[in-house]
Amino acid sequence: MTLKNKITSRDARIGVIGLGYVGLPLAMEFTRSGFNVTGIDIDTEKVEKLSRGENYIQDVKDTDLDHAIQKNLFSASTDFSVIQDLDAISICVPTPLNKQKNPDISFINSVMNSLKDYIHPDMLIVLESTTYPGTTRELILPKLTEKGYVVGEDFYLCFSPERIDPGNKEFGTANTPKVLGGVTKKCGEMGSALYETIVSQVVSVSSPEAAEMVKLLENTFRAINIGLANEVAIMCEKLKIDVWEVIDAAATKPFGYMKFTPGPGLGGHCIPIDPHYLSWKLKALDYDARFIQLAGEINTAMPRHVVNLVRDGLNSQQKSIKGSNILVIGVAYKKNVNDVRESPALDVMKLLQHDGAIVSFFDPYVTEVRLNGSVMKGNKSLSSDFLNQTDAVIIVTDHDSIDFQLIRIESRLIIDTRNVIDGNCSHVVRLGVGNR
Ligand SMILES: NC(=O)c1ccc[n+]([C@@H]2O[C@H](COP(=O)([O-])OP(=O)(O)OC[C@H]3O[C@@H](n4cnc5c(N)ncnc54)[C@H](O)[C@@H]3O)[C@@H](O)[C@H]2O)c1
Repeated sequence: MTLKNKITSRDARIGVIGLGYVGLPLAMEFTRSGFNVTGIDIDTEKVEKLSRGENYIQDVKDTDLDHAIQKNLFSASTDFSVIQDLDAISICVPTPLNKQKNPDISFINSVMNSLKDYIHPDMLIVLESTTYPGTTRELILPKLTEKGYVVGEDFYLCFSPERIDPGNKEFGTANTPKVLGGVTKKCGEMGSALYETIVSQVVSVSSPEAAEMVKLLENTFRAINIGLANEVAIMCEKLKIDVWEVIDAAATKPFGYMKFTPGPGLGGHCIPIDPHYLSWKLKALDYDARFIQLAGEINTAMPRHVVNLVRDGLNSQQKSIKGSNILVIGVAYKKNVNDVRESPALDVMKLLQHDGAIVSFFDPYVTEVRLNGSVMKGNKSLSSDFLNQTDAVIIVTDHDSIDFQLIRIESRLIIDTRNVIDGNCSHVVRLGVGNR
């Protein structure tokens, strides 16, 4: 049976490499469509958990994992040799930055070294990890042709960026259009045939480079617009205008404007990182990606700006940061998720500790964080007594389940970076408004 026929009949055996925020939801989506899926990860703890039916990704329903395991549609392994029995592989491993803020593609390289011995004719390989234009053709393709296989004839290779938005209740893998570019036309057709079984729409582009660039454009667009919103917030503080009022009014324009809001800085595994992949690639071509650089400067300075607002607020109450008890509300990088990767809350907390504050945090989704090499446990709940004893409360992440009314009533000083505290109270300093 050809791969195309196996896809149509759901006989194709699917592999997902990297079972994190991206890989596990994708694996579940394939099982929901009726495919048999093997998840491969080097993290033995994750593989053991999944083998016991234990889910660790918020966006994956426990019942979906249970169902997939019970129907023998999903298994997890650390052993790459299972690939010899698989027909299609999606690679979803991390693509972080190294210490010099350059792309760290060691995870992709490691996968390719483990995978290359097991590739076989009529196999489809799709890279989903966000990366710089050229990665699929320059890094992946040569490994797959080592045995003499010809791309587009003996095997198929595509890039298809993951667009998952953790915590988004409206859009998940299935109803978010998926962009895909194949190394050859036949590769693109094969990749589309597979993904059309799990997503509402596959948007085919002419090459993996175009697909790689689409993802970087999307996230660079966000980083730059957030940077603009952050800069406008600072301008509004200086002009004594309420930035939230301005943004809400601007957002009533039905065309030519898209709403972005200021905040304490960028977080997560995508927006703070992906634009660097693009600027790094362009640097090699002797071009400075200036928008990216400027947005990066503004966004990374936001935690310091938040700390300055704390300082001003405390000063107005004849207090200093040094020696003050400061409570950070929300340490996840965005609302309603438990992911603290690159979270601006961590930068705010480090800066406050450096300035001599006694820092604590509350986050209904996060029990502990690692800060300056040691583990800090979060408060389990918010009480009136605890808020009363705190000199300043900083709202960094506005999870829906947090009782902001209680915070408003019981706190002595609030720095609100998310515009969630109602009214113009004298003890509230809002980002983009300042200390009134
Ligand atoms: N998290 C998001 O919201 C999101 C959204 C869109 C795109 N992406 C991109 O998707 C990719 C994966 O991100 P993520 O958030 O799922 O990361 P993650 O850290 O949650 O998961 C990656 C998984 O890959 C595993 N892994 C690492 N090296 C491996 C190897 N050599 N072989 C097998 N498994 C290996 C890790 O153990 C981990 O379980 C990244 O390129 C990221 O930029 C992430």
